[in-house]
Parts: sequence; structure tokens; C-alpha cells
Amino acid sequence: MMRIRIRGNAPVLSMESAPMIDALNQKHGIPGAVSVVEGKNHLPKVVLTHRSGSRAEIYLHGAHVCSWVDSTGEERFFLSREAWFEPGKPIRGGIPVIFPQFGAGPLPPHGLARLYSWEIARTERLPSGAVRLRLCLDSTPEMLAQWPHPFHLEFEVLLDEALAIVLRAKNTSGEPFAFTSALHTYFAVQDIKRTKVLGLKGVTLADAMQKGAREVETREAIAFDRETDRVYVQAPDAVRIRDEARDLTITIEKSNLPDVVVWNPWIEKARRMPDFGDEEYPFMVCVETGQVEKPRSLAAGALWECRTRFSVSR
Ligand code: BG6
Repeated sequence: MMRIRIRGNAPVLSMESAPMIDALNQKHGIPGAVSVVEGKNHLPKVVLTHRSGSRAEIYLHGAHVCSWVDSTGEERFFLSREAWFEPGKPIRGGIPVIFPQFGAGPLPPHGLARLYSWEIARTERLPSGAVRLRLCLDSTPEMLAQWPHPFHLEFEVLLDEALAIVLRAKNTSGEPFAFTSALHTYFAVQDIKRTKVLGLKGVTLADAMQKGAREVETREAIAFDRETDRVYVQAPDAVRIRDEARDLTITIEKSNLPDVVVWNPWIEKARRMPDFGDEEYPFMVCVETGQVEKPRSLAAGALWECRTRFSVSR
């Protein structure tokens, strides 16, 4: 068991995490493909490497992918230098896993899944050479005290030249429940003013900057010159980020996730976020795939599964 002790205001894991990490590595490590190492603040982190040279790093805390380096050796995810790596707090950057509540509501913002430590269920190298990690999270009494609906979550990372994520939620209670969910992915861009999001023309959006007012997107290419916080409802299953400064395109493909959220905090909101540097907003854009607008109902015993895949082209 990991022990948590308090130093100042911040809970940190004690050095007893080291033997636990060694044990996880012995059980789940695969030479040349999977290793479990000590991450920031002694938190366990799984490192996946693929023969193409791509690499992903996933914290058990939140099942949080905090890094994806593609086969060119470049980092594709933004991670704030101010990010917290603390039990009970979300990590700013990478892919926060949002479940069972997107945004504000009775639960902590963006729900519970990103606040707790997940377990490694399985690691494998597939015959194709792709490397797969499966993490899981079962509702605990502490979670059920906040949201009284027992669940089992699985989060799968599949790394090859691309990065694919599968998220599954099983309703392990005897009653139906409804949830919202998202992969809140922070992409690294060289310059937000030379970044565009493509593929959302004609889609209805709810604009959080206009109190949720709805309109239809008229632009082929969404550019950024201010705080942007929009839910594109029933968006197409492929959208692209064009990073003009780097001359590359990131394609985001989704299935069984209706919505896409586009977010950049810009200057004032960046200043208000304690775990985000004031000068960092030009270097990121969130393009989130999710079940955001309309909660999804899940019958007792039923399983929901969604996928998102990220790939890079020049
Ligand atoms: C986005 C929301 O998905 O997440 C924004 O649309 C929010 O309104 C942002 O500010 C970050 O949320 P958090 O809880 O990680 O600070």
C-alpha cells in the first residue's frame, strides 16, 4: 500500500512507493515496450515505447496520459509546468479523463475519474507490434458517497505510430445511471495564433463565452484570438488541428462520442488558474472528444465503450 504523508499543504507519497513501483514493474513490465517508473511526486507512471520510436507516459493517478512523443521525437501533448501531481487533484495537461460529470455540477469539476489512482489490469505487445496498456478503476465507498452509482471503468492506451484510447464504463449497480464523459486532451502547439481547428463547419455549438448561446459554426477553420470555450454538439467523427508554425496536422478520430469541445483559456483565465502558467496559453489547445451535452444513460449491468485516436501528418 502507498502511504500518503503531508508536507506543507501538499500530500506527497512516501518513499515506500519505490518498492511498490518495483513490484508493478516486475508484474507488468515488458522489455522494450512497457516499464513502470517513479514519476513526479513519487507517483507511479507507466512508460510505453513502440518500435517506431513513439512513446507515451501514463500516470496511474487519473489514468492520465501526460506525454505522447510521436515517431519524429516531438512531444504532441501540452503539460503545464505548474501542473499538480497530487492525489485528489487533477493534472493540468495531457489527457484528463472526465467521468461521470463534464464541467461543473454536484461533483468536483469534471467528475471523479481524474482524481483517483487507477490500477494496471494488463499490459501487452500485440502481434502487430502495437503496445497496449489497460487500467481500471472501481468505484470506492469514498466515490459512492459523492455519486451513489457503482461503476467499473477501463482505460486502454494503444500505442503504435498513432495513439488510440478506449474508455469503457460498466454500470455495476442494479439501477440505471446517467453520466457525461470526455477525454480532455491538451495538444501542444507552437503558436495558438497560427493554429486552426478544422472539420466543424456547419456544426451547432454552445458557446460558454456567450452564456451557452447556440449558433452554427460558419468557419472552415477555427482560429484563436481570445478565450474560447465551445461545445460542438454532434460533431463529425474526425476533426483536425492545423499547427501552421510547425507545418503539421493532428487528426482526432472518435467513435461513440458525439461532441467536441474546443478550449483555450487565453490571458485572463490563464492568470486565474493556479496550476497553469500565465504565459502558457499560446502553446496549447484543448480539443476534447466527449459525451458532453446530453448525459448518456446506462442500464444496470450495461457497458459503454468509446474510442479516440490521434495521428500526426505533415
Ligand atoms: C473545459 C471547459 O472543458 O475545461 C472549460 O469547457 C474549463 O470551461 C476547462 O475551464 C478546464 O477545466 P478544469 O476543471 O480542468 O480547470
